[in-house]
Amino acid sequence: MSDKTKKTIDYYLIRINQIISSVLLPSSKSEPLLNEAMRYSVLNGGKRIRPLLIYTCGECLNIKKEKLDVPALSIELLHSFSLVHDDLPSMDDDSLRRGMPTTHKKFNEATAILAADALQTLAFGTIADSQVITNQEKVGLISIISKACGAEGMTGGQSIDLLSQGKKIGKKELQKLHTMKTGALIHASVMSVFNLANTYNDEEYNIMNEFGWKIGLAFQIRDDLIEIEETSEITGKDNNSDLKNNKATWPAIFGKKASHDYCKELLEDCMNYLQIFNNKAEPLRWLTQYLINRKH
Ligand code: IPE
Ligand code: IPE
Ligand code: MG
Ligand code: MG
Repeated sequence: MSDKTKKTIDYYLIRINQIISSVLLPSSKSEPLLNEAMRYSVLNGGKRIRPLLIYTCGECLNIKKEKLDVPALSIELLHSFSLVHDDLPSMDDDSLRRGMPTTHKKFNEATAILAADALQTLAFGTIADSQVITNQEKVGLISIISKACGAEGMTGGQSIDLLSQGKKIGKKELQKLHTMKTGALIHASVMSVFNLANTYNDEEYNIMNEFGWKIGLAFQIRDDLIEIEETSEITGKDNNSDLKNNKATWPAIFGKKASHDYCKELLEDCMNYLQIFNNKAEPLRWLTQYLINRKH
């Protein structure tokens, strides 16, 4: 990574972490235990890859960072809510997340469920209350992220994920599962940037639409590979959770080599797409490589 790219990424990380902290400050209106569980679930060291995608895609389309803050915050809150539910005993039943006890282990199940509920509504509330984007942009953003999070996206994907446990599903079905449970919110991160752009051409839109789906799919395949190839000290998550639950994953169904090869192919496609933005895509290029080659 060049010094310039490192500075850019570090800057965005500090920026989003400060913004997240500020919306989760305890207030006289918030219930202390619930607030503590919400803070714990979001401020526990996530990589913030969705906000980073939003900021770095925003650089390609020359969007003001103050505007990008809105989808970056709401999507990270939604992502964190999805992880709290994903770890529950009735779902993946995991004990470790981001190197710390999962929210239901640290608090209790009911508090974890409620903290995630409150994070979800907060995500939409932060869009409604924004002072920097227009009403039209707010409605556009709510439409994009509610679809990505709901029955047609993340939640639907999580349902398919649970129903597929122990089954040897085919490539198309697995692609659909991954694309819905993980790809949809990553894709929405990219498309939310277009929702804030005054000018862009159809070619840029179509290319980034493809980019969003492919990077989302590759991200989940890499995630499943890391789980079986790295230690839980590195991943910060329970190792062999997928094995324990008999999950339908790319390596479980097609093997490690095919999974690595497919990630490589998807990365190449994604990098080719970014040529359209020339130098403006430097931070996004770095992020793309990191997301598909990462070890944690
Ligand atoms: C993990 O997502 C769950 C998936 C959707 C694969 P991340 O790897 O982005 O998790 P954090 O936010 O960095 O913990
Ligand atoms: C998580 O998928 C997808 C979500 C919608 C939260 P996984 O269950 O495969 O992710 P990890 O391994 O627990 O992070
Ligand atoms: Mg899961
Ligand atoms: Mg899980």
